[in-house]
Amino acid sequence: MKIIRQKKDLKNLISKINCLSFIPTMGGLHKGHEFLIKKAKKKSKFTIVSIFVNPKQFNSKKDFITYPRNYKRDLKILKKLNVKYLYMPNSRDIFSFKTSNKIYLHPFSNKLCGKYRPGHFKGVIDVVNRFLELLTPKYIFLGKKDYQQLFLIKKHIDKNKIKTFVISCNTIRENKFLPYSSRNFNLNKYDKVLALKVYKLLRKEKNIIKKNKIQKINFSNIKKKILKIGIKKIDYIEAINLDNFKKAKKFNENFNIFSAFYVNKVRLIDNF
Ligand code: PAF
Repeated sequence: MKIIRQKKDLKNLISKINCLSFIPTMGGLHKGHEFLIKKAKKKSKFTIVSIFVNPKQFNSKKDFITYPRNYKRDLKILKKLNVKYLYMPNSRDIFSFKTSNKIYLHPFSNKLCGKYRPGHFKGVIDVVNRFLELLTPKYIFLGKKDYQQLFLIKKHIDKNKIKTFVISCNTIRENKFLPYSSRNFNLNKYDKVLALKVYKLLRKEKNIIKKNKIQKINFSNIKKKILKIGIKKIDYIEAINLDNFKKAKKFNENFNIFSAFYVNKVRLIDNF
């Protein structure tokens, strides 16, 4: 595996490749990333993974500092998967050039995580756009666990007429419920049990909404239950209609339950 650290080396390499699959990551690689990489490898001969913990998308310095980093482990995983290229820039390298595209933030960026993490999505779109300008990949692989991120990146790509196809990939789960996430590395086994309980409750709630043909979706009782089992803070639990990205009101809409809550100090998000 070739590790590239500077964009001048990257440009040199890219000029020789015409069909590139790209998987952006912040490291802390897990089974979800492995799934994206395996899919990418099937789609094209050349696959590049990036590892860059983007400071611009953290709205808290502490969160940035405590974000899981384990490069040795990451490299091992990438080598095992036979990834050809790894791009690991530093902040100066990635943020020092003037971009051609303008950051586009669809209004959905103000909801859910956008409401609770000001500036987060602007930071995500900024860095992903930079990667896209440098790499000009044919495909970018993104996970549905970060549904809002995936949606907003798609909208930015469309708005700027970027010639990269977005391939959205299903969420991979541990024990059927807990989605793999880099942040899970900061959970101990008791935290994991607690998170699992929340996800089981939310699954059950979705089934109840459908089965009982609920006409007015309301999560106040389930929130109380979740707080009762030991969750200290919930940012949001909302049913979002996947066709219009508005709040879903009724059982028969095509909706997912989006959630963000804290297990101890670790913020977890999911949707299903
Ligand atoms: O999902 C992530 O890991 C990050 O938000 C991304 C897309 C790599 C941008 O920094």
